[in-house]
Amino acid sequence: MLGIETSCDETGVGLVRGTTLLADAVASSVTEHERFGGVVPEIASRAHLEAMTATIERACHEGGVSLNDVDAIAVTSGPGLIGALLVGVAAGKALGWALDKPVYGVNHLAAHVAVDRLEHGALPQPAIAMLVSGGHSSILRVNDLTHDVEPLGATIDDAAGEAFDKVARLLGLPFPGGPHLDVLARAGAANAIAFPRGLTGAHDMRDHRYDFSFSGLKTSVARWVEAKQRDGETVPIADVAASFQEAVVDVLVTKALLACQEQGIEHLLVAGGVAANSRLRAMVTERASAQGVQVRIPRPGLCTDNGAMVAALGAALVDSGIAPTAPDFGADSALPVTVVVR
Ligand code: KG4
Ligand code: ZN
Repeated sequence: MLGIETSCDETGVGLVRGTTLLADAVASSVTEHERFGGVVPEIASRAHLEAMTATIERACHEGGVSLNDVDAIAVTSGPGLIGALLVGVAAGKALGWALDKPVYGVNHLAAHVAVDRLEHGALPQPAIAMLVSGGHSSILRVNDLTHDVEPLGATIDDAAGEAFDKVARLLGLPFPGGPHLDVLARAGAANAIAFPRGLTGAHDMRDHRYDFSFSGLKTSVARWVEAKQRDGETVPIADVAASFQEAVVDVLVTKALLACQEQGIEHLLVAGGVAANSRLRAMVTERASAQGVQVRIPRPGLCTDNGAMVAALGAALVDSGIAPTAPDFGADSALPVTVVVR
């Protein structure tokens, strides 16, 4: 299975045989967005176009396979940046047409969950999946990854990764800030500043039990930093980073484990770019074991966007006997998580 991912700023091409990873080639346009402090869709689309052929060739070389060996193609159909998605969808269809192989138009979020198959084998089901990335933060009940994914909750404003990136920017860290903030936080005290835990009050736990909100937290960090600056004091950026990170991770872990408990599910999968966060990995592992929940987290390199995750989902769909997508499918920037394959 050859997988193509172009939903944001990474051009990913992966090759997978069953649950075995053969190749994972990624070309990122991140440095081209750096000076804008965020991903510029038009720049990302153009970069995908420029990188696509070379990345496909690199994946084939890495995997020791020729394009003729490929049995099927999976490509991210959504959600994501529409122009960026279109490049991948066009590439996937062109390859399918040229090689006379079936094409699966798949969901990016389900692919983030599926990637764990490459590392830890098929996911025990039902499972709770917490998906935390730059564009999404959701808690899902995965009854069957190939056709039965039920959203339990999601962010009502910023995604977790977005909050990391915005706070990192405020602290003067390079874009994307998540990984830099993670490193900086190791030098700070997580209990230095009591930042708010969004949507955890009694009222919110009734109406937004498994939902997240990070924009209030981001504002609260900004106000705290501004107040320090106004008073002419040095901002203890490591403490701010550690305390902010603790607030995000605490809410994520608390709500994910609450979902496991209330749904009577013993398996939790954490995926998406923010799953690379070292504090999240440590806290979820520790608290889950206290609650008797088995946690699976792909290695950091597979958590951020890549083509192998798309190929992993494609292979799972083939295993389940699911038919390929009709060739007239398009890109859908708002593809709901319940649509695993078009
Ligand atoms: O899944 P992903 O590669 O792309 C999306 O689908 O959004 O996630 C990227 C996000 C960015 O916001 C990035 O800052 C964040 O994941 N991220 C991290 C870490 N590594 C990546 N956030 C916190 N700690 C990290 N170590
Ligand atoms: Zn992603």
